[in-house]
Amino acid sequence: MKSYNLIGSIAVLNEKTRNKEKTAEELLKKHKNIKTVVISKSIHSGLYRLRKTKHILGEKTKETIHKENKSVLKLNIDACYFSPRTSSERLRIAKLVKKSEVILVMFSGIAPYPIVIAKNANPKKIYGIETNKEAHKYALENIKLNRLNNIELIRGNVKKVMPKLKIKFDRIIMPLPKTSFRYFDLPIKNLKKKGYLHYYLFAKRLPKKDIKGLKIKKVTRLNQISPGKYKYCIDFQKA
Ligand SMILES: C[S@@+](CC[C@H](N)C(=O)[O-])C[C@H]1O[C@@H](n2cnc3c(N)ncnc32)[C@H](O)[C@@H]1O
Repeated sequence: MKSYNLIGSIAVLNEKTRNKEKTAEELLKKHKNIKTVVISKSIHSGLYRLRKTKHILGEKTKETIHKENKSVLKLNIDACYFSPRTSSERLRIAKLVKKSEVILVMFSGIAPYPIVIAKNANPKKIYGIETNKEAHKYALENIKLNRLNNIELIRGNVKKVMPKLKIKFDRIIMPLPKTSFRYFDLPIKNLKKKGYLHYYLFAKRLPKKDIKGLKIKKVTRLNQISPGKYKYCIDFQKA
């Protein structure tokens, strides 16, 4: 069977899949949880990190509810970024969170980081900032679906929102690997002394030196992006 990503009840086949219709038929027959099969490029693009999918077989919908790490996440797969492959990384971060932390998730999307953290740890409050109106709309709905009351989501560009935030955070998460370097200066001011910064990036080689008063505590290599290039998370701690 060809490889695919499963988002809720939608199987997303890679555009290079041969015999798409036959593969889709087999998937629908074999897996009762799959209701829709679509095809898509594996690369996300643009400010909102989106990819257009094309319907192949099954129920004609782009909206689904995905379950992971005790969380339910509703989304439209064409209008919002979401990757089921990051599920274990989200749980890794949740497990680092100590009781009563105040956390900021920059680039929060449909809010998988805030929700997985709230469901698997005991933070005081989690803030999220997202610029895509559709993703923000689903994020607000997801908070209700998960019955959480310690998450506050702000719609806007981090560059405009963060300078106005008068909060010091115990932990800041930056899940925008393609261009997070453009925003690297932003979280430093809002991070408490000894606070943690989880910085995602795509790279072939990683900087080994601590930077700007931030000490590297751990580097996690995640999935491969292209030959020799990987997604990484650097866990920094502020001096
Ligand atoms: C790679 S996605 C990650 C979304 C979510 N955190 C997740 O893990 O599914 C990055 C998100 O950042 C948003 N984004 C990009 N630039 C932004 C900015 N300057 N301010 C706020 N959000 C931004 C995009 O719309 C997108 O939803």
